[in-house]
Amino acid sequence: MEIGTNQACEGARSSHAARSSNTPSRSGRATPVVIDCDPGIDDAVALAVAVASPELSLRGVTTVAGNVPLEIATDNALRLLQAFGRDDVPVAAGAPRGLVRVKPPHAFIHGRNGLGGVDLPPARRAARSERAVEFVARVLRDAAPRSITIAAIGPLTNVALLAALHPELTDRVDRVVAMGATSGRGNVTSVAEYNVWADPEAAQRVLGGADFEILLVELDVTRRATVDRGALTALRSGSERGTLLAAMIDGYADGVSGERPLHDVVVLAAIVDPTLIETRPASIEVNTGSGTGRASTSIAFQDSGAGASRARVRVAVDLDVARFREMLLARVAEPL
Ligand code: BDR
Ligand code: CA
Repeated sequence: MEIGTNQACEGARSSHAARSSNTPSRSGRATPVVIDCDPGIDDAVALAVAVASPELSLRGVTTVAGNVPLEIATDNALRLLQAFGRDDVPVAAGAPRGLVRVKPPHAFIHGRNGLGGVDLPPARRAARSERAVEFVARVLRDAAPRSITIAAIGPLTNVALLAALHPELTDRVDRVVAMGATSGRGNVTSVAEYNVWADPEAAQRVLGGADFEILLVELDVTRRATVDRGALTALRSGSERGTLLAAMIDGYADGVSGERPLHDVVVLAAIVDPTLIETRPASIEVNTGSGTGRASTSIAFQDSGAGASRARVRVAVDLDVARFREMLLARVAEPL
């Protein structure tokens, strides 16, 4: 699987800046977030950013089969939270396979254990006995309308199941901020991005925008979120946590370009600071057919007209890479 390329990107504008009514910049309150993930090296760094960000209130971590099988993803989530001193955050395991795709989608670029071969101490606790969908439903039941942000950084199976099983609770979700899809070159097939490829039917359900307001951070933007040698050195020497993450990221380098795009981290960074990205209203169609185009995504931008004002879906089109790296280092290279 190809990892990504670094494309220079200067000065993302901030049309998205004032979008959400509960971003800390507007209300001063921490944004309540549930992270749905498949750790995964970039998922691991995303979790590190989340726990180090006072702008976020992490209500739970749910896992899905993706980069690694579900049991390993769940164990990794537990180990990572323990390493970050956050055993108070509930973890619930979700879907072991896709809605229609049952073949394991595991991505071997994340090393033998999903964490670049870095062995974290075994978790002292287990995941909740309730499944991810029921756990999130419980969080939503107790929440105010449009209050919870779901950061979806793995295949979208759990989020699609939530929409299907609990339509009465979707209005409690402020928005789903998802990493996935591509409007250009894929990273699994020439046209498909990994998270969509792993469960295209779930991606179509969620990214279609029928159930939730969506902010999609797609591959063409997250490919720019690379960690260069300088940033990696700063990370390695900054703190114990930084050293740990640098060792994981080291195992994630593209054999050809040597670059390390931290796709999932862009989702958390954009929730913390919406001015890091520029977004446009759009509609998204996932190819759920069986041909070579399976899991490709058509993104149609709607910058004007009735469609634009009604759009429930926005797509990130630009990232301020320099400020993204600054944020990353400020959050995870410093001791907690
Ligand atoms: C996505 O695929 C996974 O391998 C990463 O964790 C990220 O969520 C990038 O295409
Ligand atoms: Ca992921």
